[in-house]
Amino acid sequence: MHRIAVVPGSFDPVTLGHLDVIGRAAGLFDELHVLVVHNPGKSALLPIAQRVSLLEQAIAEAELPGNILVASWSVGLLVDYCQDVGASVLVKGIRSQVDVAYETPMAIVNRDLAAVETIFMLPDPAHAHVSSSLVRQVASLGGDIAPYVPAAVARYLQNVRV
Ligand code: PNS
Repeated sequence: MHRIAVVPGSFDPVTLGHLDVIGRAAGLFDELHVLVVHNPGKSALLPIAQRVSLLEQAIAEAELPGNILVASWSVGLLVDYCQDVGASVLVKGIRSQVDVAYETPMAIVNRDLAAVETIFMLPDPAHAHVSSSLVRQVASLGGDIAPYVPAAVARYLQNVRV
């Protein structure tokens, strides 16, 4: 049985917390798709293609396993992508009870829609306070984001004024 899982998210930008969960999940499945999904509820900083590129660079520079691929999805349901690629599991990183409350309804709806199960994974507690929205805010106000993001993201955001 070839087990395929999807790690979906906005990844605007990818953080060290995301990368930690991606690395842990890659060890549990034969194939792991990291999927950049447009979230209409959030105002975006980076174009989708840039988020994909930064994820690919971060995954390569962290020397994560070779069973990870990065893709994007902007039309239709997340579970449509899962069905297209034969994935039956979603992986979400959980930093706190706030994340549990946010993720639980989506997990149940995705199971109702297409029998896609969601697994919640705990990142290293060192990253528990890190979020993309915090990184966007610190970067936009000229602060140092290097402790929170992969080097590729720090390089990119320091070279473009956000
Ligand atoms: O990183 P985010 O912004 O918290 O990720 C949320 C995301 C993009 C994974 C979520 O909004 C999502 O699953 N969107 C896809 C649309 C969809 O399928 N909705 C119905 C089931 S929840």
